[in-house]
Amino acid sequence: MLTNHDLEKMVDTNDTWIRERTGIRERRIALPGVYTSTMASAALKEALDAAGMQPGALDMIICGTVTPDMPLPATAAFVQRQIGASGNCPSFDISAACAGFIYGLSIADAFIRTGKIRTAAVIGTEMLTRFMDFEDRNTCVLFGDGAGAVVVTADHDGRGILSTHLFTDGSLTDILQIPGGGSKEPASAETVAQKRHCIQMEGREVFKVAVRYLSEAAETALSTNGKKPEDVQLVAAHQANMRILSAVSKRVSIPIERFALNLESYGNTSSASIPISLDEAVRAGRVNDNDLVLMIALGGGISWGSALIRW
Ligand code: UT7
Repeated sequence: MLTNHDLEKMVDTNDTWIRERTGIRERRIALPGVYTSTMASAALKEALDAAGMQPGALDMIICGTVTPDMPLPATAAFVQRQIGASGNCPSFDISAACAGFIYGLSIADAFIRTGKIRTAAVIGTEMLTRFMDFEDRNTCVLFGDGAGAVVVTADHDGRGILSTHLFTDGSLTDILQIPGGGSKEPASAETVAQKRHCIQMEGREVFKVAVRYLSEAAETALSTNGKKPEDVQLVAAHQANMRILSAVSKRVSIPIERFALNLESYGNTSSASIPISLDEAVRAGRVNDNDLVLMIALGGGISWGSALIRW
């Protein structure tokens, strides 16, 4: 665990600024020897246990992540091996940053609706602290490590994923990036020295579009299904900043008390924040059968989306 007070000793920041500007108090840092895939596998095992299913039941494993174990192969392939799923189970990663979980959910839903598969695992797993410049106060106070997972199946009775909506605005690729280490700037002594392998963000610019796009995505999810804000029992939103969530809550007229929040304890866990907060809300008894759960997320790309679930 890394608290705001720990960070005060590392960069020119302070607990009051971080709490008031973001809502974060502390974040989790994965131990050495733990990777993006091992966190993902731990989360998926818990999801399978909760669903009363065996790894062999999975027809697909999708990992939303921008912090894979390595560029090749996919983190999902490691997860397949670690949990002992079938070797015939296609396993791949989705790169949609903080929206990666909703993108994965949408893909799983489409495959299930077309009858190509019956059961998919969708995981959000992210270890951004290993892509962090701990001398850059603009980013290092924000992120934490984590993973969450769900199992999606074809059985429903009117319950399950009602809709998903995905969006990308590629004109905004520059405001949230890990610029080095890819084909544009292959890893070299120079890219490492310049910390080009670390996350860079123009926070204020991301903030502005986040409030607008998240609110619009939430409204699209509701209007598509003929639902009103008061019909929603739980919002599992990507958690980057409490001020963003408060603004979205007001714009879409869903009280902040209905949001599943854990930003204070975990920071921004990117694609993992929705499945982690959903899991905590379910285990806390906040979600009942037939409740409407709204998911919204936005991240690098800029990519964003929403999903409406009948629990
Ligand atoms: O998860 C993917 C999507 N990401 C997001 O949605 C993040 C969106 N952005 C944000 O959450 C916010 O923009 C931040 C939390 C990143 C920054 O908050 P802000 O209120 O937009 O701050 P700012 O960048 O406008 O900076 C305000 C001031 C500046 O000082 P001056 O120029 O006013 O003197 C910064 O230098 O705060 C300063 N500052 C800090 N001070 C103490 C920036 N970072 C820090 C810091 N500690 N860590």
